[in-house]
Amino acid sequence: MKNLKFICSLSLLRNRYAVVLSLIMVSICARGECGGISPSSQGLIQGARWLDIEGEHINAHGGCVLFHDGKYYWFGEQRPLAPGMGQEGVNCYSSNDLTTWIPEGLALTVSETPGCDIERGCIIERPKVVYNKNTGKFVMWFHLELKGKGYGAARYGVAVSDTPVGPFTFLSSGRVNPKQYPLNLSEGLRNGNDETGVYQDWSPEWIEAVTKGLFVNRDFNEGQMSRDMTLFVDDDGKAYHIYSSEENLTLHIAELSDDYLSHTGKYIRVAPAGHNEAPMVMKADGKYWMVTSGCTGWKPNEARLFMSDSLMGEWEQLPNPCVGPKSEITFGGQGNFIFMDPVSGKHIAMFDIWNPECLGDSRHIWLPVTFEKGRPGIHWRQYWSF
Ligand code: GAL
Repeated sequence: MKNLKFICSLSLLRNRYAVVLSLIMVSICARGECGGISPSSQGLIQGARWLDIEGEHINAHGGCVLFHDGKYYWFGEQRPLAPGMGQEGVNCYSSNDLTTWIPEGLALTVSETPGCDIERGCIIERPKVVYNKNTGKFVMWFHLELKGKGYGAARYGVAVSDTPVGPFTFLSSGRVNPKQYPLNLSEGLRNGNDETGVYQDWSPEWIEAVTKGLFVNRDFNEGQMSRDMTLFVDDDGKAYHIYSSEENLTLHIAELSDDYLSHTGKYIRVAPAGHNEAPMVMKADGKYWMVTSGCTGWKPNEARLFMSDSLMGEWEQLPNPCVGPKSEITFGGQGNFIFMDPVSGKHIAMFDIWNPECLGDSRHIWLPVTFEKGRPGIHWRQYWSF
């Protein structure tokens, strides 16, 4: 496995000088001077490899942390460690203290059955797992792209398990809420027609049309697109699916059924034509806060902050919550989840520093969310411990 990491780093190199530099780095790593850091002994060092108890970099990206019965479970995308390798599914790690992580293996595994929605070769991104108190089941939602279709399918996927570590059983995938209009799209704008050909992409008229539901109407019959996503369970036990829709131009918040396995048909649009991805949501001081990124693929950009008094209500945009060096590019990362740690009482924001050449070697940034003057801030710290 370690050799794969070296192969992977080498694939990044584009010229002779870089090769020489890489060989020096590899020999330093081999002497154990920069290979990786176990969070348990060193605290969190942002951007270093975070090692599990077997000494491997934690391969869980775009994911989430779930606290259940006194234990933490970290779920995330299992990503290839070398060019040409495919994705195996969703990895799970468990911990008693957020620092020592035990690899629990794949919680959800891609299928070997041809034609299955999660057939090997599909793309599974941003998995989120929640526990349903009424059914006693663990429910996983994720962004699914079908094998061989690039990012065109834009579906959600749902899987379920009796235990947090899985194995999760894949249930279904699809577009969101076919034949349902968002609650906050006015009657006069609901026509169910595809008028996308009428406008020049990115012209002022097109942007106005997007704001007025151009893609909601286009996708009315098939269901709304669903890419980058998160889940949020409110204090009353109701769960919500928050996702980048309408060609990544507009966020949607869709209510889930009581068993968390499907949508209820109720959803709203947030920041139409605002181009938001990577949503993560938390509740504090009776308000709902959402941090998102812009849309620049694997490249980092400036985070955005939104606030609302109710999940399905009006959301107001506020300035970038990140503070410190490289705060204008989210410290080089992209958000994936904010979890409330019941032990410390802190909200902890999780980010990925994506390495598109070797996604399995993407690094982690975790930072506490602090409140000043009633607003959340995420301050850079190179090092901190729980
Ligand atoms: C990012 C997104 C990632 C992944 C990537 C693909 O913007 O947040 O989850 O989809 O694009 O380019």
